[in-house]
Amino acid sequence: MAIEKTLCILKPDAVKAGNIGNIIAHIQKEGFKIQAMKLARLSDRSAGKFYEVHKERPFYGSLVEFMSSGACVPIALEKENAIAEWRRVIGATDPAEAADGTIRKLYATSKGENAVHGSDSVENGLREIAFFFTEAEIAELGL
Ligand code: CMP
Repeated sequence: MAIEKTLCILKPDAVKAGNIGNIIAHIQKEGFKIQAMKLARLSDRSAGKFYEVHKERPFYGSLVEFMSSGACVPIALEKENAIAEWRRVIGATDPAEAADGTIRKLYATSKGENAVHGSDSVENGLREIAFFFTEAEIAELGL
């Protein structure tokens, strides 16, 4: 299977709850390579841009408000079959439906405040990684 990249975001609820370390340990235990990582704070405007595909959805306003409500940790991950693998590791969008042992089952509290993000396709993964990290930043890491 092909090596892929996906964008993970530790969302403001996970950061506020002090779960950065636990979730990074989980990521590493699952064999993902961390390619780039930072602590960031999205403005209203940049959160709106990141989630532009959901603009017409009823939860768009609350999603943008939540994602700009505090610090988050975007992480570029790499692994064989990373898109599907990361989605397996994080579990269903709604933690009530997430399988036991998944990150959302362990750390999320609701469909909106669901601890982590994962890209839904290879193409979106690359676009989302480029949203948070410049090519120069990634190149500087020598990865
Ligand atoms: P994520 O998959 O990271 O990106 C889109 C986000 O929209 C999703 O996580 C949820 O946090 C949020 N979302 C999806 N469906 C709902 C919903 N019905 N109500 C509130 N938020 C939602």
